Amino acid sequence: MSTRGNPWAVYRRLLSYARPHLGVYLLGVLGMMLYAATEAGLAGLVKFFARGTFLKHDPTVLWLIPVAVVGLFLLRGLGDFTSNYFPGWVGRRVIKQLRQEVFSHYLRLPTSFLDGQQSGHLLSKLTYNTEMVSAAATNASVSLIRDSLSVIVLLVYLFYLNWRLAFFCIAAAPPIGWLMQVANRSFRRYSTRIQNSMGDITRVAKEAIDAHRLIKIFNAEEHQSERFERVNEANRASNMKLVFASALSNPVVQLITSFALAGVLYVSERQVFAHRLPIDVFFGFFAAAMMVPPHLRRLVNISGPLQQGIAAGESVFEILDQAPENRGGGLPIERARGEIEFRNVCFDYAGGKGPVLQDLSFRVQAGETVAIVGRSGSGKTTLASLLPRFYDVSGGAVLLDGHDVREYRLEDLRAQVSLVSQEVVLFNDTIRNNIAFNAAGKTDAEILEAARAANVIEFVAQQPLGLASPLADRGQNLSGGQRQRISIARALLKDSPVLILDEATAALDNESERRVQQELALLMRGRTTLVIAHRLSTVENADRIIVLDRGRIVETGTHQQLLAADGLYAALHGMQFNA
Ligand SMILES: Nc1ncnc2c1ncn2[C@@H]1O[C@H](COP(=O)(O)OP(=O)(O)O)[C@@H](O)[C@H]1O
Ligand SMILES: [Mg+2]
Repeated sequence: MSTRGNPWAVYRRLLSYARPHLGVYLLGVLGMMLYAATEAGLAGLVKFFARGTFLKHDPTVLWLIPVAVVGLFLLRGLGDFTSNYFPGWVGRRVIKQLRQEVFSHYLRLPTSFLDGQQSGHLLSKLTYNTEMVSAAATNASVSLIRDSLSVIVLLVYLFYLNWRLAFFCIAAAPPIGWLMQVANRSFRRYSTRIQNSMGDITRVAKEAIDAHRLIKIFNAEEHQSERFERVNEANRASNMKLVFASALSNPVVQLITSFALAGVLYVSERQVFAHRLPIDVFFGFFAAAMMVPPHLRRLVNISGPLQQGIAAGESVFEILDQAPENRGGGLPIERARGEIEFRNVCFDYAGGKGPVLQDLSFRVQAGETVAIVGRSGSGKTTLASLLPRFYDVSGGAVLLDGHDVREYRLEDLRAQVSLVSQEVVLFNDTIRNNIAFNAAGKTDAEILEAARAANVIEFVAQQPLGLASPLADRGQNLSGGQRQRISIARALLKDSPVLILDEATAALDNESERRVQQELALLMRGRTTLVIAHRLSTVENADRIIVLDRGRIVETGTHQQLLAADGLYAALHGMQFNA
């Protein structure tokens, strides 16, 4: 169901989240009814007071009125509490569920979609936009129901007291309704802008915080502040439009109601002069009539949060409606042998600049190590991402153990592949949990063994907590080699039959590279391995080397064969050797 550009559909869909909590919400509605009833009660009390005091001179009003006032306000307070608490409870549930769904959905979105997104915007949808939905689901809906109920109850009372006069009050309804419509439309437009600008604020802030070292070395603090100032100013400006519209709507509502009031006053005075309007009815009528405008004012005011919520809901549903990753075929696989075949593989990135891989064909036997080399941008990383289906081929097929990778269940397929790349991703957690990432079934002994084999223990031993030491923000307190060893331990623990090393040592200095190389050799043992490297020293020992150039295989062979062939590989090798 698409909800784009259709506010009612968005609202209905939001309501569908609240539906399971309908009972709780109805408790709130009971409170709203009680609250609305006390409004008419108060006006009735004024009438009763005027009648007892001025017309009847009844001494019982002396104590009855004060007691009734306190009693009425007690009921009113009860209605007030219930009408805020229970819808608030529902609202927070809805928000939590929506957040959870959005987060889970982010995890299931295809890589190709996420490539094209700004993470700051995705973050702010999760934090800010969902919060806006909450305001619409609670405050705005409470006000919508409660104030409408109050207005209706008061109008009924007014008609009951004097229908001729009440007609004047009704006259104000059409212009106010029209005003609300205009306000709604502009509020929704501004809300979308505000949300986008919140996304920009999050994006710029996230980039700046992530890049703190870069900013420092470039002395770019001013430059970043200016960038932030721009998005911050855009946010202020969009918000001011909302502030202006909502500030203006109040006085306009007041003005409209004043016309209605003026009419009522004129007619009622004439009726009083003609002795057709008793004084208690006059007082009661005015008490009730004066209670209507604050409700109208709130009703007009809620269109801000309401429209913000709808715009936010729309942006959140847009994400939820994005098709998730294809979960693959039904073919299960426990542990692959590890035969890989690329068969006439072609690939281009969606919206990319043309073909990245063209008609690639090669086979890798189980347990074999094949190196893929080539200039930067020749398509090595792309080639490797086709195996765990980060992307799907545009033509041809990638096969694992003789079956197209698309035939396997996606989880099963990915369980067969370990990926160690140049950029090590670590979480704000202990070293142990970073190694045992989603490895609930592994014992402490296995984790320790992996940590020892990858020489993580060596640098962890100096820390008082050992493997339980927490990492600072994404492992910034570790050296590049240490971080890489954690990711090697992670791969050792995963123990998958296929291994992809994508420039795993590219970020390391010579000495750590040599050390990490040993750990990698251990990791490669007994696995089918694709080694991607531009530093050719790391690929010389591979069983076979495939040389890529602009997405095509231009050479294959062993190190010696390729040197003898004196082609691109020999040229690349010569270049590095001379350097
Ligand atoms: N996510 C992406 N979206 C669009 N184009 C991409 C993406 N990743 C890489 N490319 C392009 O694909 C080509 C091959 O990139 P890549 O496979 O990363 O090369 P290599 O790993 O050999 O350096 C490059 O031209 C690059 O610009
Ligand atoms: Mg690469």
